[in-house]
Amino acid sequence: MNIILFGGPGAGKGTQALKIAQEYKIPHISTGDMLRGAAQETSPLAQKIKDTMQRGELVSDELLREIVAERLNKSDCTHGVILDGYPRTLGQAKDLEEILNKLGKKIDTVLYIAVPEEELVRRLSLRGRADDTLDTIKNRLKVYMSTTRPVLDYYQEKGLLQTVEGVGDIEAIFKKVKETLAGKKLRS
Ligand code: AP5
Repeated sequence: MNIILFGGPGAGKGTQALKIAQEYKIPHISTGDMLRGAAQETSPLAQKIKDTMQRGELVSDELLREIVAERLNKSDCTHGVILDGYPRTLGQAKDLEEILNKLGKKIDTVLYIAVPEEELVRRLSLRGRADDTLDTIKNRLKVYMSTTRPVLDYYQEKGLLQTVEGVGDIEAIFKKVKETLAGKKLRS
């Protein structure tokens, strides 16, 4: 199954994606992790990525398209993938469709982890990653609401969206995720 995990910053996408990847034996593709890796290099592009992430802005659709297309072309993606943090713009959603089309694949489900904004801020403030400062958290949320949230409506219209409440015990949320994915598998 090709799964997209969707949700605001701090919704638990990474946490749940790791568990799904283990359970279903499919690779976890986190664009945030890939960009943090790319930002470690010493080059003008790496510095640009680092600065963009530090501000809580989005890295360009073009660069993401290149990174994701290359990753999805690898042999470990044959039996499905779990995408975490991509797509985040309508442009990226369309790019992804094109990338998958070329590979003869499609998105099976978009799983939205729903968490209220106060809880997102609470979790990120507790974590302390480089982009978890209060100003950057506020900007990440703003960018999410203005640019990323509309992608949900896009997938809703395509009939691909499923929602899981993401507040509470991590294992209990994972149980709901598995139930949702099992239902999807039975229907498809
Ligand atoms: P990215 O790394 O994707 O960050 P994000 O979407 O802001 O999400 P987080 O990683 O902060 O949160 P998460 O939902 O994965 O939650 P997690 O499991 O970590 O992106 C970072 C930056 O990269 C972007 O701002 C952008 O600049 C750039 N970027 C990435 N993708 C891009 C793209 N496609 N296009 C353009 N730019 C892109 O959990 C968060 C915390 O909560 C953890 O401490 C965790 O332990 C805790 N937690 C998890 N679940 C629970 C729970 N149920 N209860 C309590 N605590 C919990």
